[in-house]
Amino acid sequence: MKFQGTMNINAKEHLEIGGCDTVELAQQFGTPLYIYDEAKLRKTCQEYYNSFVGKYGNAMVLYASKAFLTTAICRIMEQEGLGLDVVSGGELYTVLRAEFPTERVYFHGNNKTYEELRMALQNDVGRIVVDNFYELELIDSLARELQCIPEILLRITPGVEAHTHEYIKTGQIDSKFGFTLSNGQAMEAIKAAKEKHVAVRGVHCHIGSQIFELDSYVHAVDIMMNFLFDIKRQTGLAIEELNLGGGFGIYYSEGDEPASVEEYADLVMGRVYEKADEYHLLRPRVLVEPGRSIIGPAGSTLYTIGSVKEIPNVRKYVAVDGGMTDNIRPALYQAKYEAIIANKANQDRNDTVSITGKCCESGDMLAWDTKLPEAEAGDLLLMPATGAYGYTMASNYNRLTKPGAILVKDGEAQLILKPETYEDLIRNDVMPDELSKKQPVRLKSIG
Ligand code: LLP
Repeated sequence: MKFQGTMNINAKEHLEIGGCDTVELAQQFGTPLYIYDEAKLRKTCQEYYNSFVGKYGNAMVLYASKAFLTTAICRIMEQEGLGLDVVSGGELYTVLRAEFPTERVYFHGNNKTYEELRMALQNDVGRIVVDNFYELELIDSLARELQCIPEILLRITPGVEAHTHEYIKTGQIDSKFGFTLSNGQAMEAIKAAKEKHVAVRGVHCHIGSQIFELDSYVHAVDIMMNFLFDIKRQTGLAIEELNLGGGFGIYYSEGDEPASVEEYADLVMGRVYEKADEYHLLRPRVLVEPGRSIIGPAGSTLYTIGSVKEIPNVRKYVAVDGGMTDNIRPALYQAKYEAIIANKANQDRNDTVSITGKCCESGDMLAWDTKLPEAEAGDLLLMPATGAYGYTMASNYNRLTKPGAILVKDGEAQLILKPETYEDLIRNDVMPDELSKKQPVRLKSIG
């Protein structure tokens, strides 16, 4: 297993993160628990900032908040000089409540509602990334009503096939997102937008998620720069911003080999500038929108092991007190994770086990055939690299409560998200009047 960030083993043979003993964290905060390594998170933000903005100037890094968002995370992103990508009224509301500078917010989504768009325009978000013709009309009428000129990007589907899981591919032609480039729809959208009550600042594409092949990005840059050239030729419009989306892959388990952020930045920026010069275009401001690669490796989930069931010659199931409710990724995308027993951090991982959750569902698995030391009830299991798309895709299936999250740094742990309580689970339940008085239960006599 690969130790990331500030993880290390202390004298008690316990795993430590951010100088905090994970056994003590479990006692203090309970399990399951999302643990975020603040130093690692900030370091990655700085790597992104320095590689794009520091080195090239005319660039911006937007954190894709769908990966994990709380008000405290907004504040960290603000301090690190990043912008934010939001895709819903709820994400936007969180960002507003955190008093994040709205000019650094980009609003995405393939079916934004009238109310969401209104909320965005009234709060002066930096850019709206327009996805389709319906939305263009909505924005146009809202802009006239509110007497503003929204600054927009148009989302383009470049037709790039990224090698990743089917469900998280987005750049291919058969996609629900964006204006298709190859059939002329994208150019039609640019021409239509020019006539609307908006200012077209740029174009956007996102080819997918958990991508390792940098060539896919180069391919996307080539297609988009060619499009910028066509736009200039056909409409005279000089596109100022090129947003290349997110998708940079991370290490989850053996075989995952991400390049460095700096390599990614140099390749992409180099190619954009090369193409701009070749086409005699303005060098556009380049934006990237990493989500997973910023927050994923900084987060881990801590569980308590309960039942250990061995079926001789078949499989050993190690069950934890969470599962698909706090991390749906193994069930949904066959995502692979590694794990460690946090209170036996020094022991050899010789036992082959499958880690399961506590939901009434056989597919509720966190890992198949992975290696652990001998697991017993009461041990603590830590699963690294769960910082992205864990909590944000969490559910209350089986009325399980969602875990809380903490930030750890220099031996201090701070809560950034309270764990849900049973009371939270019934908070929105409504008992209709006619059911509110308890009636004697009518039992059907049997036989
Ligand atoms: N920008 C746009 C327009 C996106 O749609 C996404 C992700 C990102 C940026 C950030 O991508 P990232 O850097 O995090 O890969 N739930 C899936 C991932 C879905 C990603 C959706 N869009 C998962 O757990 O793998």
